[in-house]
Amino acid sequence: MSNLVVVGIQWGDEGKGKMTDYLGQKADVVVRYQGGNNAGHTITFGGNRYALQSIPSGIFNPHIKNVMANGMVINPKAALAELDGLRARGINDFQLYVSDRAAVIMPYHIALDGAYEQLKGGRQIGTTKKGIGPAYADKYSRVGIRMGDLLDADYFASRLRDALAQKNMELRMLGLEEMDFDTLYREGLAYGEAFRPYICDTSILLNEEVKAGRNILFEGAQGVMLCIENGTYPYVTSSSPTAASVPLGTGLAPRYIDRALGICKAYTTRVGAGPFPTELDGALADYIRERGHEYGTVTGRPRRVGYLDAVALRHAVRVSGINYLSIMLFDVLTGVETLKICNAYELDGKTIDYVPSTISSYERCRPIYVELPGWTEDITGVRSLDALPENAKAYLRKIEELTGTEIAVVSVGPDRTQTIVVKEIF
Ligand code: IMP
Repeated sequence: MSNLVVVGIQWGDEGKGKMTDYLGQKADVVVRYQGGNNAGHTITFGGNRYALQSIPSGIFNPHIKNVMANGMVINPKAALAELDGLRARGINDFQLYVSDRAAVIMPYHIALDGAYEQLKGGRQIGTTKKGIGPAYADKYSRVGIRMGDLLDADYFASRLRDALAQKNMELRMLGLEEMDFDTLYREGLAYGEAFRPYICDTSILLNEEVKAGRNILFEGAQGVMLCIENGTYPYVTSSSPTAASVPLGTGLAPRYIDRALGICKAYTTRVGAGPFPTELDGALADYIRERGHEYGTVTGRPRRVGYLDAVALRHAVRVSGINYLSIMLFDVLTGVETLKICNAYELDGKTIDYVPSTISSYERCRPIYVELPGWTEDITGVRSLDALPENAKAYLRKIEELTGTEIAVVSVGPDRTQTIVVKEIF
C-alpha cells in the first residue's frame, strides 16, 4: 500500500490536475479533501482537454474510486453540471463517493461572497465568487448544511430554517434580496436525490481501502500560499490545502499519510489580489502568460506572472512537509534569456529569508535574485533528465538546492506523455 498527497506549493494553478491524473494511473482511490469548485484542474489526454472543478481527477478511469471527502464544500448544482458535462463527452463509467459530512454551498453563500467582496472596496481578496468563504464560515459557526442532511427531509427543513434566519438577516442588511425557504428546500431535496447513490460515510470507506492495502492519492486544491493557516492571510482561500489537512478532511488517521509531493510551476503565478514579490510586468510577463496559457480555469482572469520564489517555496515545503517536488510547465521557460530565482527578500533595509506573517510587511518585501542563463531548445519532446539542455538541468539543480527538496517529476507539456519521471514515488 502506498499513499501520496499532491499539494500545490504556490498560489494555486500549479498543474495539480495533470499530476493527479498522471499518478492516478497507478491509484486505486483519488480523494479531494478540501476546497470546492473554486479549483480548476485541467487534464489533457488523448488530444482532449477536460477542466474539473469539484470532481476528483480520477473520474476518467473506471477502476478508480473517486472520493469527495468531508473537508470539501460542495455546490451540488455545479457538481451535477460537471458530471453531466463529463457524461456528454462519453465519461459514463465512473465510481464516485460523496461524504455525508461534506458542507453544502448554498445559493446564499454565493450571494454573500460577492457582497462581502464589494464591501471591502479597494481591499478585495478577488475570490472566485463561488461561495467558498461563506460556506466554510457557516460550517465553523455551526449553521452549515451537510450533504447527508439533504437526504432527510425533516432534518434538512430544520437546518435550513435555522440557517435562513441568519442568512436572510445578513442579506437584508447588505441590501440584497432575501431567499425563499420553499425554493431552497425543494431544490436541496432534489439535489439530495440526485446525489443519493453517491453519498456515504467516506471515512469508513477510506479506512477500509487503507486496510485492504490500496494505493490512495489525495488531491489538494489551491496552493499552500493560499492556505487559511499558513498562507498570505487574508489573501487566501478558506481551507488548508496542506498535507496536514488530509486527516481532518478525510477521517483517516495521520499515521496513514505516507508522503507529500509539492507541485510547483517553473515560475510563479497568482490570481486575485495580494502580495507577490517576484511579480513581472511587460514583455516577459506576456511571453510567459501566453506560452503557459495563464488564464484562470474558473474565472478566465489573466493570471499575474512572476519569477520563481524560493523563499515562498521553502515556507510551503516546511509547513506542508513536502518530500519531493514536481516541476510543472518547464517548457514554458524555453526562450527566456536570463532566469531569476528569488532566494531572499529585502525588508526595510534588512535581508530576510522567510515569509513575514503580516501582509503589510510582505507588501514591502523586495526580491533578491540569483540569476541563471536560459535555454532556447524545444524541450517538449524530452523524456529523460539527461536529454535536457545543460542550462535547463542547472535550473532544476538550483531549485533543489534552494528548496532543499529533491525533484521527482518534471513536466514538459500538458499531455500525460510529456512527463519526465526522475524518481518513482507512488
Ligand atoms: P476563494 O477560494 O474563492 O474564496 O478565493 C480566495 C483566493 O483564492 C482568491 O485570491 C482566489 O483567486 C484564490 N483561489 C481560489 N481557488 C483557486 C485556485 O484553484 N487556483 C488559484 N487561485 C485560487
